[in-house]
Formats: sequence, structure tokens, C-alpha cells
Amino acid sequence: MPVPGPGYSITVRVDAPPSASAAGDLTTAVGKVGGVLTAFDVVESHADAIVVDITANVASADHADDITSALNALPGVEVRKVSDRTFLMHLGGKLEVSPKVALRNRDDLSRAYTPGVARVCQAIAANPEDARRLTIKRNTVAVVTDGSAVLGLGNIGPGAALPVMEGKAALFKKFAGVDAWPVCLDTQDTEEIIRTVRALAPVYAGVNLEDIAAPRCFEIEARLREQLDIPVFHDDQHGTAIVVMAALRNALRVVDKDIENCRVVVSGVGAAGSAIIRLLLRKNPADVVAVDIDGIVHTGRDGMDPNLRWVAEHTNAEGKTGTLHDALAGADVFIGVSAPNLFGAEQVATMNDDPVVFALANPDPEIDPIEAQQHAAVVATGRSDYPNQINNVLAFPGVFRGLLDAQARDIDDDMLLAAANAVADVVDDRLNASFIVPSVFDAAVAPAVAEAVRSAAVAETKG
Ligand SMILES: NC(=O)c1ccc[n+]([C@@H]2O[C@H](COP(=O)([O-])OP(=O)(O)OC[C@H]3O[C@@H](n4cnc5c(N)ncnc54)[C@H](O)[C@@H]3O)[C@@H](O)[C@H]2O)c1
Repeated sequence: MPVPGPGYSITVRVDAPPSASAAGDLTTAVGKVGGVLTAFDVVESHADAIVVDITANVASADHADDITSALNALPGVEVRKVSDRTFLMHLGGKLEVSPKVALRNRDDLSRAYTPGVARVCQAIAANPEDARRLTIKRNTVAVVTDGSAVLGLGNIGPGAALPVMEGKAALFKKFAGVDAWPVCLDTQDTEEIIRTVRALAPVYAGVNLEDIAAPRCFEIEARLREQLDIPVFHDDQHGTAIVVMAALRNALRVVDKDIENCRVVVSGVGAAGSAIIRLLLRKNPADVVAVDIDGIVHTGRDGMDPNLRWVAEHTNAEGKTGTLHDALAGADVFIGVSAPNLFGAEQVATMNDDPVVFALANPDPEIDPIEAQQHAAVVATGRSDYPNQINNVLAFPGVFRGLLDAQARDIDDDMLLAAANAVADVVDDRLNASFIVPSVFDAAVAPAVAEAVRSAAVAETKG
């Protein structure tokens, strides 16, 4: 059930009597129907009335209506207007383009634009590499989506995906000074997406693929990596994998286990699960058992796509079959990027001693984290209202900062693992079962990730 949170915040403007009890009556009315009051502002005061803005976190549209009705029902109170603060934040979009150069007079104009700019164009025509020095390409990333797998909302299309891509671009700038721009494509055809991104590429020094459905996302990423001379990174895959690997390294420190001795169950073999499995295998765990909607993934299964076949061939050394519950028995680690409410405390009890449970399905995890805590030594989720939030924002801004600073032409698993180590290292001696990853607002994270990725990229170029 949704709970009131800042993602759904309303401001209700009311006319109220100027009595001594007005403030108490209004705030009590909001509290009685479960609204979480966050601000109370008297915006006008007259001899016979006051006008008040009451701001509260709510759980849903129905809950917002309940609050409005509760306020309207108070004697002498009339609701004038209800504003949704989330929508207000999105009015007119969240990004703008702002020139870095002054354009005050003819002299400025002649250098920024014609005729002076022509010589810069000619320099780039003579030496295309100069585009990275003399244009926005140096610091600009395309955030590319086809709108086919947006948040947990599914295939809502490119226009509806734009608020998410704008938010992503805002995070790139805020956390790492990267100029990212949304590129929402009105096609879900693999070939057309590849062709279009290739045609757009001259402007960008990197491509961040976002919210493109599996399995299409695997082919789009692989083919673009082949065809472009700039790094291509699918955040739903690799951003997640980086933060999961960072969290896992620290969780295993808490329970004092080595990854080489751990049996890991990964539930979900879509975008996130596949990338997690590939990076995890680089650390040589004792075994990985992948599970999807059809149960444990094994080589004897019919009708597997190339991605699932690769996973089947590289995991499940014992050739297990069966359900997620079967896979969990005796496992040291559970990593879920699949679906809500798949198991309970009784299955955690069947895992090895001091199990680690990452239940990352959003918004509702594979197991209620409170239930998981009954037997698990470390629990993480994707949610901000529990400790140990696995959030991609810990990775992608720093990853691209490092790639841009290195003028990298591609990205590989060594760079992803370097980023994961950097995220894990930021925790340092603050480590405990409720603090295996840093806060998303820890200002040390993005520079640490950027430096790790830059060094790995530079080492690769030299090597
Ligand atoms: N940082 C995070 O917390 C984070 C990051 C990425 C994804 N996620 C979450 O992980 C989930 C999957 O994301 P995705 O982009 O990989 O989706 P996806 O659609 O690409 O893959 C979903 C996978 O889950 C499997 N699945 C579905 N129902 C299942 C069930 N009942 N039992 C076992 N497996 C089941 C599917 O077979 C598929 O392999 C989503 O809930 C997403 O929000 C969280």
C-alpha cells in the first residue's frame, strides 16, 4: 500500500476564520486523515479572514481528495485551490540551454558566430578529433530512450518518457557537471534506433541508453558499441550492476565471507539481472543460479533467446532445475531484480548462515524487507524509505564524468568494476549491516567513481 511521501505532495490554499484555533483545526484535520503536514504558511491576513497554504505529503489522488474534503468540512473554511507540487516542478520542463559565452556586441557575435566560427568549422573538418576540443561534444551525453520500459510503468512511449529523461539529465549535471540531453525516439524498431543514434552521434561524447526493454536493449547496445567511437552504456543494465557489486562487496565484508565461497541466486534475467550476472561472474563466485518467471535457468530449457542461453551456459554449475524457492535453499546471497512478493521469511531461513538479501524490485521488493530481516544478516532494497538503498545515481554520473575526462571511446567490464570498487570504498570504516552503500547525496561518490573510471580508461588506452 502506498504511504505518504515527497513524491506526491500537495499545497491546499484555504480561506479560514482568523480565530486563535484556526491553525490547530486545519493541521489536525490534515493529520486525522493521514496527511503528513510539511508546511503551513499564512499568505494573506485580513480582519475577517486568513488565507493559508497547507502543504502535505499524501499517498494517492484519493488521499488528496480526503484531505481536501476534511479541510472543506471545517466550519468557516473554504478550499480555494489544490496544487500538486510534483506537477508544478515539471511545468515547462526541468532543463534549459544556456550559452557559456557572452554575446554583448558585434565583436562577440563575430567570434561566436559568423564570420569567426567558420575558421573553427574548417579546423574540425581538417581534424575531426578537434570536435572534442572545440565543441559541446567534449562534455555532452545523449540520454536515449524509445519509451518501451519506463520506470515500472512499461511501454508508455517516448513522449511520456521525457520527464524521466529530463530528470536523468538534471542528475548528470548536478552530480558530475555532465551536460546530458534527452533523446526520446519515436520508434521501437531495433534497426531504426541503431541507425538514428549513429546519425546523432557526432554531437555527443557518450550515449546513455535508458528504459529500453529487454531483450531488444542487448542488441541495440552491442551493435552501437561496435559502430560508434564513443562509449555506450545502458544504465538499467550497467548502472545497476555497478551499485549491486559495490553493495555486495561491502555486505560480504559485514558477514565475513569471500565471494569465491558464495552461492548467489539472481532472480530476474532481464536488463538488470543479466548485467549483474555478467559482472558477478568476473568475481568467480562458487556458483550463480539465475531464476526468471519460468523458474531456474538451465541449459536444458527450450526456447531461450541468445541472452538467456548465454546465462544458462555460464551459470548453474550443478544443473539445478525448479523454482526460486528451490534455488534459495543453501544460498549465501539473493539478488532480486524481478517482481514483487516472491518469497517470505521461511525461504530466507533455508539459506546458508548469515544470508545477504538484496530485494530490488520496485516499488515492491521480492520480499518485505522487514520480513527478510528476521533471518538475513544484511538486507538492501531499491527504496529510499529503508536503509541500504541500491540506487543507480551512485554510479552513472561519475561513470560518465570519468569517461568524458579520459575522452574514452568505449567502456568495458574493467571500468564497471573500477566504478563498483570506488562506490564501495567510499563507505570505508562507516560500514555496518545498515550502511553498505553511501548516501546518494554523499558528495565524495561521483568524484571517486569518476577518478576510478578515468584511470581505468586511460590505462586501457595506453595498454
Ligand atoms: N537500483 C534498483 O533498485 C533497480 C535497478 C534496476 C532494476 N530494478 C528493478 O528490478 C526489476 C527488473 O528490472 P529490469 O529492468 O531488469 O526488468 P526486465 O523486464 O528487463 O526483467 C524482468 C525479469 O524478471 C523476471 N520475472 C518476472 N516475474 C518473475 C517472477 N515471478 N519470478 C522470477 N522472475 C520473474 C522476468 O522473467 C525477467 O527476467 C524492476 O522491478 C526494476 O524496478 C531495481
